[in-house]
Amino acid sequence: VRKKLIVIGASYLQRPLVVKAKEMGIETHVFAWEEGAVVADACDYFYPISIVEKEAILQKAKEIQPDGIISIASDLAAVTVNYLAGMLGLIGNSMEVTRNTTNKYLMRSVLSQAHIRCPGFHRLDRSTDLEVIDLNYPAIVKPVDRSGSRGVTRISDPSFLREAADRALEESFFNEAIVEEFIFGRQEISVEMISWLGTHHFLAITEKVTTGSPYYVESQQHQPAEVSSSLRDKIIDTVSRTLTCLGLQYGASHSELLITADDELYIVEIGARMGGDFIGSDLVRLSTGYDFIRGVIEVSLGDFKPVEKPIRKYAGVYYANGSPGLVTEIVDRTADFPQIIQKEIFIQEGDQVGEVKESGDRMGYFIYHNSEKFLLPEPAPIEIVAENLKLVHHESI
Ligand SMILES: Nc1ncnc2c1ncn2[C@@H]1O[C@H](COP(=O)(O)OP(=O)(O)O)[C@@H](O)[C@H]1O
Ligand SMILES: [Mg+2]
Repeated sequence: VRKKLIVIGASYLQRPLVVKAKEMGIETHVFAWEEGAVVADACDYFYPISIVEKEAILQKAKEIQPDGIISIASDLAAVTVNYLAGMLGLIGNSMEVTRNTTNKYLMRSVLSQAHIRCPGFHRLDRSTDLEVIDLNYPAIVKPVDRSGSRGVTRISDPSFLREAADRALEESFFNEAIVEEFIFGRQEISVEMISWLGTHHFLAITEKVTTGSPYYVESQQHQPAEVSSSLRDKIIDTVSRTLTCLGLQYGASHSELLITADDELYIVEIGARMGGDFIGSDLVRLSTGYDFIRGVIEVSLGDFKPVEKPIRKYAGVYYANGSPGLVTEIVDRTADFPQIIQKEIFIQEGDQVGEVKESGDRMGYFIYHNSEKFLLPEPAPIEIVAENLKLVHHESI
């Protein structure tokens, strides 16, 4: 008999999940707001109920009697998935795990109590007296509950705290932010794993490049990260212990870390879900051969298969960003590179583009798959030329 899978969320991020489930012969029941529900036509049954309407979804789910429930969309969807899994007796993580992995302040609190290395940190809300905060600078201010670098600012000293805190609080769903000491990393990485019954199976280490100070928007992701084998072991051990300490039992995780000059490791944040930027949906499969999406579907249906010995290829994504101004020309040379297997450009000539302050501001991307790391050629495969008549310099926060 055909297995039934409830999918929470219907944005473009979920498409590979729904497509894979279909390929596996699974019946898909998708819940989401009708607006922007791009997978509505790809699934078997679509219910126009917002992903935050937990009780309404629960009522329907009791009729459907699913074998599993899943989402690869967002932290917001993960809350609903784990709530419903608990109510329906299906595989999922506890609500406590969900809270600790969707709130950056709670996550830091749990990790520091467990003596996992953390920078100094402090919670912020509208009524916090900023004068009492005692931290080393520079510092990073961010909303506790957002992603994609929304509302993230690095500040060099406390005089910028008010402005950065307001920016972060504005972005937060619940008007809550965190300020934490800046970690000087020589390299930023993420670790992709899949968990089953509280055992964490390593899949890949991803090397990340960001736009840097002040907004730290991801601009490149590469797998595998080039790290020594002893450092690799230490990374895997640190992440496994951290996931256990957060109570993660099942499914994908995406752990972000900074490696310092003397190879100390600091957790930046942990997501109990796949990494975005095509990391979970594409790069893991391209670089290791492991079908991560199939893996998480199987876990949600209670049917985990051990991760086999990976192949070793390189895969990555480069985001295309132009400087702010009026876009006068977009040069697309991607067809000249056989390594480039997918691309998209989100803007057009004549558009007025601003500074890239969060993931959603990025202007395009391409994905490569190669026998070695693909270094960005000069000129770039996607070049965005913008004309800026009045260059207004931003205050240096
Ligand atoms: N304490 C920190 N020290 C140094 N860099 C940081 C710190 N916190 C965040 N960053 C930088 O900011 C980026 C975004 O922060 P993160 O906590 O991952 O938020 P988001 O959920 O928006 O991805 C990180 O990838 C990292 O480059
Ligand atoms: Mg992050």
